[in-house]
Amino acid sequence: MPTTLITNIASLVTNDPSQGDGTPLGLLTDAAVVLDGETIAWVGPAAKAPAADTTHDAQNRAAIPGFVDSHSHLVFAGDRTQEFNARMSGRAYSAGGIRTTVAATRAATDAALEANLTHYLREALRQGTTTFETKSGYGLNTEDEARALKIAARHTDEVTFMGAHIVSPDYAEDPAAYVELVTGEMLEACAPHARWIDVFCEKGAFDGDQARAILTAGRAKGLHPRIHANQLSYGPGVQLAVELDAASADHCTHLTDADVDALANSDTVATLLPGAEFSTRAEWPDARRILDAGATVALSTDCNPGSSFTSSVPFCIALAVRDMGMTPDEAIWSATAGGAAALRRTDIGVVREGARADLALLDAPSHVHLAYRPGVPLVGEVWQRGIRTS
Ligand code: NIG
Ligand code: FE
Repeated sequence: MPTTLITNIASLVTNDPSQGDGTPLGLLTDAAVVLDGETIAWVGPAAKAPAADTTHDAQNRAAIPGFVDSHSHLVFAGDRTQEFNARMSGRAYSAGGIRTTVAATRAATDAALEANLTHYLREALRQGTTTFETKSGYGLNTEDEARALKIAARHTDEVTFMGAHIVSPDYAEDPAAYVELVTGEMLEACAPHARWIDVFCEKGAFDGDQARAILTAGRAKGLHPRIHANQLSYGPGVQLAVELDAASADHCTHLTDADVDALANSDTVATLLPGAEFSTRAEWPDARRILDAGATVALSTDCNPGSSFTSSVPFCIALAVRDMGMTPDEAIWSATAGGAAALRRTDIGVVREGARADLALLDAPSHVHLAYRPGVPLVGEVWQRGIRTS
């Protein structure tokens, strides 16, 4: 494999505490990285860098690991502009809007769904996202859930079966029968195409017992649990996530002290999704409280046409710093290494020998500018699996 030396990096976030300044960000100044094919072969001070087949000048800019967006819903058709407009005129967000996207998604061809997915993936990649998780959940019947997962699996290894997004409109009168379908025939058809299983545990979606039944059935088929928990109200989601050793409890907007304690004493990551609170004009999750308790926090977009139609991790970082009590360093860690932890991965979200060669070069001297200069397109170059994509 030909090697590439990226040198003249003014400041490099490695997320490897054995590097640089000894903080969790492992910040190196005047740094260089050698890429060997899809992998990082060397990281250190530019002055000590080994020779490589080609050299690329970072022009004294900052670099960070590519973002790991561990929560998105990108297999869908249509949009929900009218619903957003109504919300911005005072209407509240409710899970019921999901039905609009279910109807549009069922009516779309495979090619149209894949083109839409590719469009948002490219948009995210240009903004520095080099790994993304994505879910089904807008099919809500066996055939449409399975095809969503097959389409997603052509683009990422991090595919999540979410037949339990809401009770399918086809089963509005009989939610118990829908849970039976999800845990039976639908799971059978979907499990081979997914790594994860997710449930929207919320009033108007699935209660704690239904969520436990669905996640447990998924686990028996080899899927690992993650949960949409405590988004719109207090509820059992976070405790259930910890009970089942879910990789992540996502949203975590309404938490009791017991929920925060449970997260802090577990391996379950709290994935915060500020795009959703922004786009639904809801109360922010309190990242400071969760971090101070000692829990691990990830930051992701939740990109979906209803509650959070942004693919921009930098935007989420800026919100988390401004409104959720995170420091810029914490927010950048959470959007990279935190996302990797929420996917139980150690090969991404970090710039370390042997890790995947995923980097974002910023048109800025420091990673702090991602929060300091909100809304400015600072991601100048993206390297994914050792290849420069933009
Ligand atoms: O994560 N909370 C449930 N699911 C999505 C919203 C989906 C939608 O409104 O289409 C979320 O916010
Ligand atoms: Fe979501």
